[in-house]
Amino acid sequence: MTNDAQPATEGEDLAITYNPWTDGTQPAIEVKDLAFAYKNQQALSGITFTVARGSINGFVGPNGAGKTTTLKILATLLLPQSGTVRIFGRDVVRGYKDVRGGIGFMPDHFSSYRQMTVFEYLDFFAAAYGLDLAQRDKTVTDVLALTDLTSRKEDFVQALSRGMQQRLSLARVLVNDPDLLLLDEPASGLDPRARIELMDILQELRRLGKTIFISSHILSELGDLCDSFTIIDRGAVRYAGPVEGLTAQTDQAAHYVLHLSVANDEPETLLRGLDGMLAVDKDEGKPHYRLKFDPARLRPNTVLKAVLDCGAEVVTWQRETVELKKAFMDLTTPGVAP
Ligand SMILES: Nc1ncnc2c1ncn2[C@@H]1O[C@H](COP(=O)(O)OP(=O)(O)O)[C@@H](O)[C@H]1O
Ligand SMILES: [Mg+2]
Repeated sequence: MTNDAQPATEGEDLAITYNPWTDGTQPAIEVKDLAFAYKNQQALSGITFTVARGSINGFVGPNGAGKTTTLKILATLLLPQSGTVRIFGRDVVRGYKDVRGGIGFMPDHFSSYRQMTVFEYLDFFAAAYGLDLAQRDKTVTDVLALTDLTSRKEDFVQALSRGMQQRLSLARVLVNDPDLLLLDEPASGLDPRARIELMDILQELRRLGKTIFISSHILSELGDLCDSFTIIDRGAVRYAGPVEGLTAQTDQAAHYVLHLSVANDEPETLLRGLDGMLAVDKDEGKPHYRLKFDPARLRPNTVLKAVLDCGAEVVTWQRETVELKKAFMDLTTPGVAP
């Protein structure tokens, strides 16, 4: 692969010196007119998008859209052929060592290390990042706790379920305490429970201040996780921006699910009276509502606040992904086999 830059796990590059990012004002990811072609296949034809610090951005597109290629370029494993890519203001070509010190890249496959326990696996990568014994012990203990794998630390890596292997992969990319996580289809092949557990960990990591760029070829896999999306199709960006803009673009009503703790007629009357509310469906005998409203006239927060102000206890307040699915289908074409 002549297009490959030096892989991060070889030779001198293992001794990464971590430089704190400059002044904290640059976006986490800035991609401008990025193009890349394999020998006989144009994979990216001039893509531009930005990911703000502290956000969780869903990088979504059908198989073959160019997600893995983009992620490898962000991770400094492939060189851009034209355009610029900056991570926290650092150029991925000229500043690749700094970039590597501040990112964690989780590839779309799990590399198995025979005869290694979970602890040894993580300790190995921590050593590769140049941590001494005491630092390693603390780091590995911390990342095991974060990914809920502490009780598995003596288990062999191959014996783990797919969900646990994905969490171990995530733990591995956390050992250098990166500010930006680049995750290539981490939820792929996980059962619903394992997927929810992974999403919970990612939410926690965001609360710790990390920026997360996560790819998927199935929009619903990402559920409610993302506050912004980059939709890619056949090497071109179709949408880049906040989740609200994605749904507004399809000119669709907003769909929300509202569950209250006790049945009460009052919120129902109040909900129906809100300007911009299009439909209020209530489950028979339960304080469960499905709401449909015009996002141009009524904001989700206004609805929630009105419900809370009348004294109702809210158990669930969730956007339904039906509108996101429609947006995705409108913006992309059926997948091409990679
Ligand atoms: N190593 C490679 N050699 C040639 N073509 C490739 C290679 N890797 C990916 N491609 C092609 O580049 C395009 C983008 O692929 P990829 O970035 O893997 O997409 P995604 O991750 O969205 O499925 C596809 O058409 C794919 O077939
Ligand atoms: Mg891929």
